Amino acid sequence: MSHIDSSQSSAGKIGESVKSASPGGCPVDHGATGLVSPTGCPVSHHAAAFDPFDGEYQVDPVEALRWSVDREPVFYSPKLGYWVVTRYEDVKAVFRDNILFSPSIALEKITPAPPEAEPILKRYGYAMDRTMVNEDEPAHMERRRLLLESFLPEAIASHEPAVRRLTREYMDRFVTKGKADLVAEMFWEIPLTVALHFLGVEKDGIEEMKQFGVAHTVNTWGRPSHDEQLKVADAVGRFWQVANRILDKMMAEPDGEGWMYFSIRQHFEHPDIVPLSYLRSMMLAILVAAHETTSKATTNAFRLLLSNRSVWVEICENPDLIANAVEECLRRAGSIIAWRRLVTKPTRIGEVEIPQGAKLLIVMTSANHDERHFENPYDLDLYRDNSVDHLSFGYGAHQCMGRNIARMETAAAMGPQPCIAIMDAVLAADITAIKKHAAAIAWANEPIGPILSNPELFAQINIQMEKLRIEAAG
Ligand code: HEM
Repeated sequence: MSHIDSSQSSAGKIGESVKSASPGGCPVDHGATGLVSPTGCPVSHHAAAFDPFDGEYQVDPVEALRWSVDREPVFYSPKLGYWVVTRYEDVKAVFRDNILFSPSIALEKITPAPPEAEPILKRYGYAMDRTMVNEDEPAHMERRRLLLESFLPEAIASHEPAVRRLTREYMDRFVTKGKADLVAEMFWEIPLTVALHFLGVEKDGIEEMKQFGVAHTVNTWGRPSHDEQLKVADAVGRFWQVANRILDKMMAEPDGEGWMYFSIRQHFEHPDIVPLSYLRSMMLAILVAAHETTSKATTNAFRLLLSNRSVWVEICENPDLIANAVEECLRRAGSIIAWRRLVTKPTRIGEVEIPQGAKLLIVMTSANHDERHFENPYDLDLYRDNSVDHLSFGYGAHQCMGRNIARMETAAAMGPQPCIAIMDAVLAADITAIKKHAAAIAWANEPIGPILSNPELFAQINIQMEKLRIEAAG
């Protein structure tokens, strides 16, 4: 088993001097390439070839890094300039110690911008600063505590009826229409609507946000070409302006409902803990953090269910399994593949010495498939008793604040009956089942639209599964 600073079974003690893991100071030589890591250790062929922007990692990151989980759980990637960590215990231990492993680089551009991008961003007054996810202690925890209220279970539960109603409305639309692109017509828009409602942001500007959200993600995590960098800079600059326009309006009348209003009021009371720079940066970042993540997680969950039909049938028959199904889907295909940390003191992860200033790519999706922690990790197992241990929401002090909103949205799409039953019937194009479910539909005590009791129309329903636009890189 690989774990951080093996004598501690957790992250290395701060300031502790690091001893070599092997007489030569390097872990096992996995077949040298002539390349060396920043600590002078040989880089293996696999490590040298690893490129997260190309090839298998883009399609199936778990498979692409299986060799690492098995044989080289911590390695230096010369193409990325990061140390990559893939085993469950290591990834968890890195998350756990946010002092030794600072989150400050979490939103840093993974591909630095060319100098020409700077005047473009300046034109828009772009001044992205720390938010929450990339803030160090003690500022982070003070802020998190002050802003946590809206995420507490009872506050989240108050949104549930609206989320279920919305899900039902969206399903009604495509049922009436007779076919659906599940992503475009449901999994993209519902999380956006819920996110805006939760934040207290009005719907105007929604189209701009859709477009710019992608730009922010590419800006942070992508490898755009030189020309794309300039386009991305322009889009991010415009996104910044839209976000600021929204924020200014909200600040002028700060009594509204929603997390951003609450944050604005906390800013007025505690400007040292919730500074204006935070509000401006968070306004932009949270639109993506709350929307795209959830949208893709729900999409991935349904993709898994579509390819594991017997599991889906089980959920239909027993909606009590939905909560675990949500966790299992998050474990198998959460929407954030990997996260980042900066090493603040020399340390060791497993057998590998890591220097101060090293950047870490911690791969949650690999950790979620580590058989040292999850038995038969590739099975979608609704009865697994530790699914919830997955690291898709991170872990420790920075663990995702919105995780229960995301869970609620995916669960609402899965059921309880009749939602999943309808989709099941529709996908099966099974007229008998459709008739049965149409008859059983109660839609939470509201009358069903006439379409739902018309088997002929149901028979025409054709869910265009091929249109499920799964974005493997999350
Ligand atoms: C499936 C959906 C989601 C996934 C996979 C996800 C994932 C993550 C991850 C990996 C982190 C960093 C954790 C760490 O550093 O330990 C994070 C942080 C965060 N997430 Fe999410 N997230 C999701 C949905 C949401 C939603 C819906 C919201 C808000 C409405 C949200 C708000 C936040 C915030 C505020 C943080 C920063 C917490 C902190 O640093 O203290 N997330 N999320």
